[in-house]
Amino acid sequence: MSNVVLIGFMGTGKSAIGRVVAKILGYQFVDTDQMVEEITGLTINQIFRKYGEIRFRSEESLVINKLIGKDNLVVATGGGMTLNEANAEKLKKLGKIVLLTARPEIILERVSRKNTRPLLAKGKNLDNINKLIAERKESYIRCADIIFDTSGRNIEESAEEIVKILKEEWIDEKS
Ligand code: S3P
Repeated sequence: MSNVVLIGFMGTGKSAIGRVVAKILGYQFVDTDQMVEEITGLTINQIFRKYGEIRFRSEESLVINKLIGKDNLVVATGGGMTLNEANAEKLKKLGKIVLLTARPEIILERVSRKNTRPLLAKGKNLDNINKLIAERKESYIRCADIIFDTSGRNIEESAEEIVKILKEEWIDEKS
C-alpha cells in the first residue's frame, strides 16, 4: 500500500502539489476529478448541471474502486470525496492519507481564479467557504494520517516538505 492520497477542501492544492509529489517520488499521478471527467465524457460542471451532485458522488465512488489494488500512485481526490464513509475507508486502505489545509482567505483567492467548482458557483465568498469547511472538517481529520497546511507555501515547497514527512513516516513504519 505504497500510495499517497491527498484529501482536503477545494483550493488547498491537492492536484498541483500532488503532481510534484508524484514527480519527486517517481510515482504515477492520478486525479479523481479528471478520472470522472474521462469516464463520463463530461466536465464536473456538466455532471452537476445535468444530473446533480448525487450522480457525481456515485461516479467518484466508482473511480475509487478502480484504484484498489494499484501501487505507487499519488492520488488527488475531489474535496468532497471523504464525505462518503465507504470512500474514506477505501482511501485509507490505498495508502498514506495527506490532508491539505489552507486558510479560508487563501482558499477564496485560489478558487476565485477558476469557474470549475459547481459547489461554489452561487457564491465564492468566505461565508460559504467557512460553512462548507465546518461541515467537512471532521470527515477530513478522521481520515488523515498527516495534516499539512499549504498557506503561505508555494507548490514546490509544499511538495518537498510533504515528501520529507512521508519518508520519515515510511522509515518509522519499517523500524
Ligand atoms: C468538490 C470539489 C471539487 C470537485 C467537485 C466537488 C467538493 O474538487 O470534486 O466540484 O465537493 O468539494 P477539488 O477539491 O479538486 O476542487
